[in-house]
Amino acid sequence: MKQLTVDTTGASEFTSPAEIAELKQKAIEALNALLDGAVPGNEFLGWLRLPSSVSPEEIEQIQRAANDLRQRVEVVVVIGIGGSYLGAKAVIEALSGSFDALEQPPKVIFAGHHLGEEYHVELQRYLQHRSFGICVISKSGTTTEPAIAFRVLRALLEQQVGKREAARRVIAITDERRGALRQLADKEGYQTFPIPDNVGGRYSVLTPVGLLPVALAGFDVSELVKGAAAIQQRSLQLADASAIDYAVARNALYRKGYTTEITVNYNPRLHYLVEWWKQLYGESEGKQHLGIFPAGANFSTDLHSLGQFIQEGPRTLFETVISVEQTAYPLVVPRDPLDLDNLNFLAGKQLDQINKMAEQGTRAAHLAGGVPNLRLLLPALTGYHLGELLYFYQLACGISAGILGVNAFDQPGVEAYKKNMFALLGKPS
Ligand code: PA5
Repeated sequence: MKQLTVDTTGASEFTSPAEIAELKQKAIEALNALLDGAVPGNEFLGWLRLPSSVSPEEIEQIQRAANDLRQRVEVVVVIGIGGSYLGAKAVIEALSGSFDALEQPPKVIFAGHHLGEEYHVELQRYLQHRSFGICVISKSGTTTEPAIAFRVLRALLEQQVGKREAARRVIAITDERRGALRQLADKEGYQTFPIPDNVGGRYSVLTPVGLLPVALAGFDVSELVKGAAAIQQRSLQLADASAIDYAVARNALYRKGYTTEITVNYNPRLHYLVEWWKQLYGESEGKQHLGIFPAGANFSTDLHSLGQFIQEGPRTLFETVISVEQTAYPLVVPRDPLDLDNLNFLAGKQLDQINKMAEQGTRAAHLAGGVPNLRLLLPALTGYHLGELLYFYQLACGISAGILGVNAFDQPGVEAYKKNMFALLGKPS
């Protein structure tokens, strides 16, 4: 079977073979340190061997819980933020047809990932006359945004169907023992799935945190796990160096002053995958005044907004393109006998062929303009290959943070805003 590959040739003219060799050595040491548990934050290394340890029984249990709720409601609201939101959102968006959500019940809707008042009022209005269930996800069980959304929606659900039936329509994914959500779930008798202690939020997409919402959206999560387990095994046995190559290339560029990485997709289904990557790399690497700023762009859309800046702005950017080789179905540009729009030179060409030429042309233009280019080649947008991509990114992140010399598994800086916000709101200490 084809597999995810990495192409770093577009970085070679910006780095030297000696630097790459030195960093490769560091990357191998960083990987070995992860495998030996000899890294800061080593209590959160559960993700490293997670995919191959997910049992068929666990998958079956997740799939069963999802199918059961799907059969009983029209809409499922998945509540969570950060690592308890973005992975599931990314996979669902990548696997869904663009208009599926308008047609196929049950719809999966997300909430609790911001404090937008209108959104939550409009969501209440939307749910008012629909049968709905809730999947609430929070490892700590105390994060403000999802906790407020859950309080609001739980009240609506209880008002709609009574406390007893409401409890049957809530699934909580949280810490096995600790936290406010765990206490609430135990008291109310919700079905629960545990988040392993040794897996941090942004590394948890292949636990029930990501798998249950994906199953609720109607997808087969076993493919996701299979793809992730396959690349895990190849990478940890050093039979696949893709994560090492990516980590090395981005660090080599960082050392040359390329301090922003723009991850680019040419497929709107990948928008949230890039959002997930931004959190993974931003929270893992941005500390001690170090790190590559993770930015995202959707091409060709953003070539008409950010394209100018990338081509001719400050030379501190490099680009990583997620390139999907095979689309799901073809669309051929029709011939028009009048050709008033002068497009007949494209007649008979597949839209994806045109998209690929946009990608190739942009790469050449950006390289010529001084923007290094890395490519991640994904054979197709299937569960299996998405599983590969998710694990690849996690492993490369662990390696990259090791090269950088930072703890990839904490996020102390996130507390600063919370402290101020709680003081302003008068939270009792
Ligand atoms: O990576 C992390 O740990 C964080 O970004 C969390 O995922 C995020 O803050 C949500 O936390 P929780 O699941 O505890 O609500």
